[in-house]
Amino acid sequence: MENAKNVALVTGANRGLGLETARQLAQKGVTVVLAARKLASAEEAAAKLKSEGLNDIYAIQLDVTKGSERSAAAQQIEKQFGRLDILVNNAGIAPTEGGAFEKRTINTSEAELHEVFNTNVFSTILLTHDLLPLLLKSEGGRIVNLSSILGSLTLHSQPNGPIAAAKRFSYNASKTALNAFTVHLADELKDTRIKVNSVHPGWVKTEMGSEAAPMEIPDGARTSVELALIGPDGPTGRFIHQGQELPW
Ligand SMILES: NC(=O)c1ccc[n+]([C@@H]2O[C@H](COP(=O)([O-])OP(=O)(O)OC[C@H]3O[C@@H](n4cnc5c(N)ncnc54)[C@H](OP(=O)(O)O)[C@@H]3O)[C@@H](O)[C@H]2O)c1
Repeated sequence: MENAKNVALVTGANRGLGLETARQLAQKGVTVVLAARKLASAEEAAAKLKSEGLNDIYAIQLDVTKGSERSAAAQQIEKQFGRLDILVNNAGIAPTEGGAFEKRTINTSEAELHEVFNTNVFSTILLTHDLLPLLLKSEGGRIVNLSSILGSLTLHSQPNGPIAAAKRFSYNASKTALNAFTVHLADELKDTRIKVNSVHPGWVKTEMGSEAAPMEIPDGARTSVELALIGPDGPTGRFIHQGQELPW
């Protein structure tokens, strides 16, 4: 997959892990369609990467929750490139009410459930649906879903496990559902060249991860980039962090 002609779409790429994933893919010779929900933010991020000598970057507006923008993105990529080689479903949100990772299950508001699932799950599925015809035109076709270790039911059900205390239901369950999408889509596409994987980037110092996070952004983006560039013998339907499989 690692050749200069690959075209990648990275969502939520104006900051945090998305911007860094766009940077690292461009550094590896990939043409990057850098998407953000505001065109000005996408253009600003693209200009920043261009100032670093990464010229094969195209800014587009894509709020993943808007159907018209998902269709427009697919049409624009088809018109400009005729196919898509890599889709990094990076855009995501954490709930804000009462602090992003405060323990909260039964008292989750309806608004929070809708908002978090709409962005992290439904919109990811719908965008992937709209881009699948272009991914099928690729000689490879890689789908990287930005999940989280917090989506692991196996680890959550261990009372003394590493994530036992991090019980924010809406966010965690949205990543569990995203993982289910990875498994189901990988199965549906198993007779094609496309590979679909879930990634846990690590706990990373972004706006979402906060300054308390131990990992720097360049290290956090590494797993997404690796999975975006895996070869034909690479994994599919897996949940991966830095080369290691995580339990579902
Ligand atoms: N940081 C961590 O420790 C960590 C750990 C595990 C998983 N993750 C996952 O990694 C991904 C990236 O996280 P991050 O830490 O880089 O978060 P971040 O710094 O908060 O960045 C999130 C990005 O997603 C974009 N976004 C949000 N809603 C969107 C929408 N409707 N349409 C398009 N873009 C949208 C944001 O755009 P705006 O600038 O317009 O808001 C921003 O560019 C997320 O899926 C997150 O759940 C992060």
